[in-house]
Amino acid sequence: MNIVNEIAGWQSPSNLAIIKYWGKYGNQLPQNPSLSITLSHSFTETIIEYTQMEKGHGLTSDFYFEDQKLPAFKTRIDQFLSKVSGRFNHLNNLHLTIQSKNSFPHSSGIASSASAMSALALCLCTIDEALSGSKTHYNDFLNKASFIARIGSGSACRSVYPYASIWGQISTLPHSHQEYAIPFGDEIHPIFRTLNNDILIVSSDQKSISSTAGHEMMNNNPYAPVRYEQARTKMDLLLNVMKEGDFFAFGNIAENEALTLHALMMSSEPSYVLMKPESLLLIQKIRTFRHDTGYPVFFSLDAGPNLHLLYPADISDSIKTWIHDELLPLCQNNYLIHDKAGKGPSQIEEFSIE
Ligand code: PMV
Repeated sequence: MNIVNEIAGWQSPSNLAIIKYWGKYGNQLPQNPSLSITLSHSFTETIIEYTQMEKGHGLTSDFYFEDQKLPAFKTRIDQFLSKVSGRFNHLNNLHLTIQSKNSFPHSSGIASSASAMSALALCLCTIDEALSGSKTHYNDFLNKASFIARIGSGSACRSVYPYASIWGQISTLPHSHQEYAIPFGDEIHPIFRTLNNDILIVSSDQKSISSTAGHEMMNNNPYAPVRYEQARTKMDLLLNVMKEGDFFAFGNIAENEALTLHALMMSSEPSYVLMKPESLLLIQKIRTFRHDTGYPVFFSLDAGPNLHLLYPADISDSIKTWIHDELLPLCQNNYLIHDKAGKGPSQIEEFSIE
């Protein structure tokens, strides 16, 4: 007999890594610490209707992405659920109807696993808490959600905190951890809490190499040990730079990390290139503009061809025309998403589904 029918829902953002996580071991543990900016407008909304089933039922689910059943997503969700269900006390004998949608078009080329997996993890934590009958302290709740999200997608563990998060052990930060992210938003200079992050869509095609395959190739990359060491050194530098508010130093680290990530891809075996000609043209335009005008405008890249344009909020008006005239024509269908640092996930309290 099915006993209860309840709903849990979360909206959770994507994030942009400034120090990149690239290379992992064990159960999705990072080879080096990473630091990301939590985004605002690029998010996933996930709603789970859960029904308690008879004993012995286990945990089952149906998954709808933007009202459609997508078999590829469903497989990934099933694998994730089977990996994490043992981490909860009350997620047994349930049937979940999971409905998910993104604020950005599915095929926009924006990595959606961070927002999708963090939204899902938050919902699972909410369901577990509701069924336990007792309230968890919010910090512990987010800590658990980060841990669970990591198992779905490493970078997802950083999406649960406002403005900035750190994932992976750092000797100077005693609370930092390999298995979950910690918040860093309270410690950064205000200039980074209002950071603008315009996503310049160069191509919305599916990536030719998945990030799972990319991480895997780091195991044989001859530069890997040096890279992991370099990331640690740069992290120490970035922590200070972000506390002090040195935007130029921040931007230089962001660009260097982005190009290092792509250099690692190019030096993998087999080698692969995810940037497109337009990505390089945009990089040149951004660097030339910065050199000529002195404006603090920098870029980052994810594991794909699209650029993230990083600049302080107070220069938005001054560079609007340049973005429109010089950068937009290099974007696919003139497509750009204005995003910025954001407050992190929020619980959905009102549901439009039955
Ligand atoms: O979380 P994954 O396994 O999709 O890996 C993400 C890796 C990068 O986005 C390239 C870097 C990062 O730290 O987010």
